Amino acid sequence: MRLDKFICKSTELSRAEATRRILAGEVIVNDKIIVDEITQVHEDNVITMGGERLKARPFRYLLMHKPANTICSNTDGDYPSLFNLFAMQASARQDQTIDKLDELHIAGRLDVDTTGLVLITDDGRWTYNITRPDKACNKVYRVGLSYGIADDKAEELVAWFKQGIQLQGEQQLTLPALLEVLPSQKNESKEVLLTITEGKYHQVKRMFAAVGNRVISLHREKIGEVQLDVEEGQWRYLSEDEVASLSR
Ligand code: URA
Repeated sequence: MRLDKFICKSTELSRAEATRRILAGEVIVNDKIIVDEITQVHEDNVITMGGERLKARPFRYLLMHKPANTICSNTDGDYPSLFNLFAMQASARQDQTIDKLDELHIAGRLDVDTTGLVLITDDGRWTYNITRPDKACNKVYRVGLSYGIADDKAEELVAWFKQGIQLQGEQQLTLPALLEVLPSQKNESKEVLLTITEGKYHQVKRMFAAVGNRVISLHREKIGEVQLDVEEGQWRYLSEDEVASLSR
């Protein structure tokens, strides 16, 4: 990671303060004074500032149950920020995670009206594993639809999603998606589970629009093997196994 980021992760300093200390020649990496804040360093390097050895804090990995009408951004906008909700809860239980909130980001944002599982971290490399389509990390959505899918049309639709959908304005088909039409009392279903590995803008809504339907509710239940298991608006730390399962 960059030297200024390393200093932020190992001290209480902001990025600007870290840069100032680097430029002042106070930071030594493996016996050499480094005055360029973008220098790449590794956690195993011996890094000192003002003669004191620095150790990076461990990364943070959390999951949160996003309520509707919140935005996946660090600040409030037209709707309250999910981070502020998280910060209020963390401060209420005097949790250290609240420190350096601006270093946290969401690994795969959800729309304002979408509910469900969001992963929050300060580990950019880990996020990359989750969000890059070529890493093929499954995201499972429970989708409510305007128009029912007739039982005798379900198989055809499943095959269409598997083959890839042509989204408006995109050159390429979506990657194969797994559609499960959930059973209903009548002869048609308005609820499905959809598993995708990409995260294009409004992807699920656009996929259903492309097949002549409309999403009226959207809820993310699972990312990789990590299942949503906290109440709406609540959060918890991920276990080591959960973190590792998304690191592959
Ligand atoms: N697809 C969407 O259309 N919206 C989301 O929030 C997530 C996936």
